[in-house]
Amino acid sequence: MSNQLIVAIDGPSGAGKSTLSKALAKQTGYTNIDTGAMYRSVALLAKRQKIDIEDGKALSALCAELQIEFVRDGEVEKVLVNGEDVSRQIRTPEVSLLTAKIAAQPVVREAMVRMQRQMGEAGGVVLEGRDIGTVVFPNAQVKFFLSATAEERGRRRYEELRAKGGEVDLLQTISEVEERDAADCAREHAPLKRAADAIDIDSTSMSIEEVLDFMLQVITKRQD
Ligand code: DC
Repeated sequence: MSNQLIVAIDGPSGAGKSTLSKALAKQTGYTNIDTGAMYRSVALLAKRQKIDIEDGKALSALCAELQIEFVRDGEVEKVLVNGEDVSRQIRTPEVSLLTAKIAAQPVVREAMVRMQRQMGEAGGVVLEGRDIGTVVFPNAQVKFFLSATAEERGRRRYEELRAKGGEVDLLQTISEVEERDAADCAREHAPLKRAADAIDIDSTSMSIEEVLDFMLQVITKRQD
């Protein structure tokens, strides 16, 4: 039987991590762990329970009773928090903004990293995030660092929002991407950083299929 590897995909927002990790998991039969969704879930519950983001004790208690599951329902992947489907609620702009602050809190990072290690240690997983190859699984057998220029990532986000019928401005969307990059890279705890042994993929002028093919080749080679 092939080895069950740990595959880490890190990179800035909008580089295609989610699409690719879902597609990879489907092709390999691995479990996809969207670590951003885990931080988003903590933010959603903190908002509901009106917890101050600086209140380490309350955040730590919240994380201790948190159960997160990723389940596939046909083609749709769902995030269940304490049994409730929160897939949509964790994607609102308000929760996104709060998540960036929550994800900078050390107590939250410690709890999520512990949970991610438990979920992934047996292998057969694709984890996507910012600190998977550097902090969560520094010994992962396959590490990708997926990026694209801020202009291209902003353009993709702009197309996505427009397709949903939103009123958006391209230049503003690009500058929001740049702002998020700066915040992700500058934060004190587990900033976005490329692992020294990660395989770089610049997806600026590549299609999803091209990136997916390349990733699958790497995984197949390492599985043998
Ligand atoms: O990938 P995403 O947009 O769903 O991530 C949501 C937020 O969580 C974003 O502000 C970055 C942060 N995050 C993190 O700090 N560490 C991770 N492993 C994944 C996400």
